[in-house]
Amino acid sequence: MKKLLKWLMGLVVILVIFIGVGVIYLKTAYPKDGPVLEVKINKNDTVLMARGKYLANSLCGCIDCHSPRNFQYFGLPLKEDSMGAGGLPFTHDLGFPGNFYSKNITPDGIGTWTDAQVYHTVTTGVNPDGSVLFPVMIYPYMAQADPEDVKAIITYIRTLKPIHTPQLDHTVDFPVNLFYRMGPHPANPMKLPSVSDTLAYGKYLFTLGACQECHTPRGSKGDLQLQDSAMAGGQVFTLRGMGKVRSSNLTPDPVTGIGGWTKQMFINAFKSYDNRAAEKIPWQQKGYQTMMPWLAYCKMTTSDLGAIYIYLKTFKPVNHKVTRWTAEK
Ligand code: HEC
Ligand code: HEC
Repeated sequence: MKKLLKWLMGLVVILVIFIGVGVIYLKTAYPKDGPVLEVKINKNDTVLMARGKYLANSLCGCIDCHSPRNFQYFGLPLKEDSMGAGGLPFTHDLGFPGNFYSKNITPDGIGTWTDAQVYHTVTTGVNPDGSVLFPVMIYPYMAQADPEDVKAIITYIRTLKPIHTPQLDHTVDFPVNLFYRMGPHPANPMKLPSVSDTLAYGKYLFTLGACQECHTPRGSKGDLQLQDSAMAGGQVFTLRGMGKVRSSNLTPDPVTGIGGWTKQMFINAFKSYDNRAAEKIPWQQKGYQTMMPWLAYCKMTTSDLGAIYIYLKTFKPVNHKVTRWTAEK
């Protein structure tokens, strides 16, 4: 009996050492984001500036996610007097493994960072103090962006009005706090495809728009189920005091997906929000509230939206009925 106890004690000690070494390894070996590369930007390039303004306010959602919002209106319109000031919460009640808050990306927040540091943070998820950002920040997608597009966005966000607001640091739950540090890797940029190569161009926009992030269902570990149900929808977002909204099935399934939609219907779904009045619709009037960034994406050009539609057509149709809304009782 005594011998067994000794054995067991020994085993526990070995286990503790193993775990300790594992934790130290995860903390020191990661992140593997690579070196901060030199970045040269011509800030007087007006074409670059316009491109950055377009991407940051529409497809990439930088301004959308990095600004406080009006929750009483449909589509959570942003507060224009605090564009880029950060503070949008992604917390436990929305289903995140921790509490995350978007950061101040106005010159008051990142004005002292070099262009190379901003570039590195946005494309690898590791900021100048070495902190690893949680991938609710879209760096896994921006890692694939054409370097010229990232430079364009940096050029534009440098022109935001500086806003001074208190910032909240993130807290990450155990054991995610150990493993998410393995996420960052050096950026693997694509080249912006030519507009005439609609499929490749649509895929590029789809990637930078992070459509997968919300429209592909997640498994029990929070991993995207890309094998069997890419873009089949059903992710649940709880909007406290309002209800639960679920992402739509965007596969070409004719019954439960958007297989029955024409390109024009798809474009119209977005463009119907592209006016000032759309930012002032009480959500109750629509019958549901949404996490879908309609108010940002609606600013995309019809040809960009059309290209995304063409790319969505290439997904495997998945029969998966999604109930869009359940009101809180
Ligand atoms: C889906 C929401 C979302 C989108 C879209 C988004 N971000 Fe973020 N971003 C965040 C969150 C949340 C954090 C903080 C993450 C954390 O603390 O772990 C963050 C962090 C950052 C940081 C680090 C700031 C710091 O002080 O460490 C920068 C810089 C940044 N984002 C820039 C951008 C740019 C540029 C874009 C557009 C290309 C963008 N973000 C798009 C949510 C978003
Ligand atoms: C932050 C999460 C989020 C992201 C990112 C997102 N969506 Fe959505 N989307 C939703 C949710 C939730 C719904 C369902 C509620 C609604 O219709 O507003 C939805 C609905 C839609 C619908 C309506 C479908 C229908 O059957 O009515 C379309 C179309 C759509 N999304 C396209 C896209 C495209 C294209 C992208 C990428 C450019 C994208 N979404 C990115 C959350 C998201």
